[in-house]
Amino acid sequence: MSEVRDVVALVGSLRKESLNRKMAMALRAMAPQSLKLEIVEIGGLPLYNQDLDATPPPAATAFKDRVRKADAVLFVTPEYNRSVPGALKNAIDVGSRPKGDSAWSGKPCAIVSVSPGAIGAFGANHHLRQSLVFLDMPAMQQPEAYIGGADKLFDAQGNLTSDSTRSFMNKFLAAFVTWIDHNAVHAA
Ligand SMILES: Cc1cc2nc3c(=O)[nH]c(=O)nc-3n(C[C@H](O)[C@H](O)[C@H](O)COP(=O)(O)O)c2cc1C
Repeated sequence: MSEVRDVVALVGSLRKESLNRKMAMALRAMAPQSLKLEIVEIGGLPLYNQDLDATPPPAATAFKDRVRKADAVLFVTPEYNRSVPGALKNAIDVGSRPKGDSAWSGKPCAIVSVSPGAIGAFGANHHLRQSLVFLDMPAMQQPEAYIGGADKLFDAQGNLTSDSTRSFMNKFLAAFVTWIDHNAVHAA
């Protein structure tokens, strides 16, 4: 039995009816007992400005502190213009600086990309992986989660209604638990 892992979930969309937020909430609800997901908001973070490295805005410091405390990070993101939405990239940049004081280093992570489109935000998923290499975050490789046709997956209350997606996401979460456990020493 794994110990309980504290996971920060970052949603790449800021809109209220976001499909990605619905997915993050569904994952939080269906996660195994050994995985505690908290959706940490990124919409209020100031735009990263290197001039402020010596005196970071309080919101940036609080965000970094929360990430540092976590055992792992789950990214749930749409694709904007075949890449990572600016809000999520900004959160990544905020958490990474000043140089040598990144909150991300060594944190195991996983990515779920969600889109109404057919290719499930593949482009954002893989652009994000490029940053994760530089940030030294071990990113789960399999299963890959490109969730397409997402406008058909939730009911009006935001419940995930697709049995096949639910079953796939259960496997994804189980693999994530193993991934976090496997990389836990590095994260400590
Ligand atoms: C600025 C912008 C760019 C977008 N670019 C893409 C894209 O490259 N690929 C894609 O599949 N969908 C794209 N979309 C459509 C989004 O996938 C769709 O709006 C989705 O619902 C956004 O995620 P959300 O529901 O979590 O907000 C774009 C939407 C916006 C607003």
